[in-house]
Amino acid sequence: MSRPTVATIDLNALRHNYQLAESLAPNSQTIPMVKANAYGHGAVEVATALATMAPAFGVASIDEAMELRQGGISQPILLLEGSFSADEVNVAAQNNFWLMVENRGQVEAIVSATIAQQVKVWLGIDTGMHRLGFQGDDIQSAFNALSNSRNVSRDIVIASHFACADDLDNQATLRQIQQFELHRPTSKETLATSLANSAAILAWPKAHGDWQRPGYMLYGNSPFKQPQQHADQLQAVMSFESAIISMRSIEAGESVGYTANWTAERASTIATITVGYGDGYPRHARNGTPVLINGTRCPLVGRVSMDMITVDVTDIEAQIGDKAILWGAGLSVNEVAEFCGSIGYELLTRMPARVPRVYI
Ligand SMILES: Cc1ncc(COP(=O)(O)O)c(C=O)c1O
Repeated sequence: MSRPTVATIDLNALRHNYQLAESLAPNSQTIPMVKANAYGHGAVEVATALATMAPAFGVASIDEAMELRQGGISQPILLLEGSFSADEVNVAAQNNFWLMVENRGQVEAIVSATIAQQVKVWLGIDTGMHRLGFQGDDIQSAFNALSNSRNVSRDIVIASHFACADDLDNQATLRQIQQFELHRPTSKETLATSLANSAAILAWPKAHGDWQRPGYMLYGNSPFKQPQQHADQLQAVMSFESAIISMRSIEAGESVGYTANWTAERASTIATITVGYGDGYPRHARNGTPVLINGTRCPLVGRVSMDMITVDVTDIEAQIGDKAILWGAGLSVNEVAEFCGSIGYELLTRMPARVPRVYI
């Protein structure tokens, strides 16, 4: 028998979440974000599972896009940060990769490229996040340069990204939408738009636009801290599981694990589970972080080791071989992340190749 530490990926749940995104914005096209190995779920497997539904996919780099092509994905692939060097414009044109254009250098690389096929571009507009995108008068001049170039196909999309859409009370999202309307470049054609990430798809209908870009929600996780009517319909895609490999009883006053940072206040039963920071279980998980064993949340006690954690199972029936769920249905990755000073996005994307992904 092999080590029982696996991430089970439920592709039906993934498709359910994709369909939810589609149903919330029936006039938009829905492009799954599969960057960072599909948020740790396996980019080729996720894209393959959505291939009959999705018109395109979004990634962060040419390397990620090439991985999808080599995995048999034939849809256009949007490069969310555009090209990093002039030669990437060529690769993009040859492979039907769409280029986000966020700065002057990227405009010049496209306009001056010698390419046989036109590239489709998405023009990034900075509406307040102040990370990427054109500002002020540069928006129109970048648009003019692109739309006058023979290298660029006619269907330019204008795009922006939200800083605070996961905060339902924060009016910054509406201000960003206003800025977007104000700064749209003037054009003979009607320009398609793209603004919405998961939070905006779920909660900010004014932001839906023509192309929406869901990431986190596809994997069944809510971007919100509080319950939300649509987010509550999401189904967890990943179940990160392991099993108990050792059990022991300790007396009150005895400590557990490296640095002995947890001391039993009563006679306790400690279960050792074969998962650790080498598997992407966060080392910063605090004492008390919940682990689901036999349907009950049990507290992590003691430091997370590279390959093991220890859990207080005094209050439940447990034995060697019992399954432990680190996150998944019944224990959201968001909740675990709260105990680690992190967010679910980080926990998912940091999961290393060491953890086998099992697709169901
Ligand atoms: C430009 C862009 N669009 C969409 C997304 C997807 O966001 P989310 O995972 O919150 O849906 C991201 C994620 O970082 C992004 O950078």
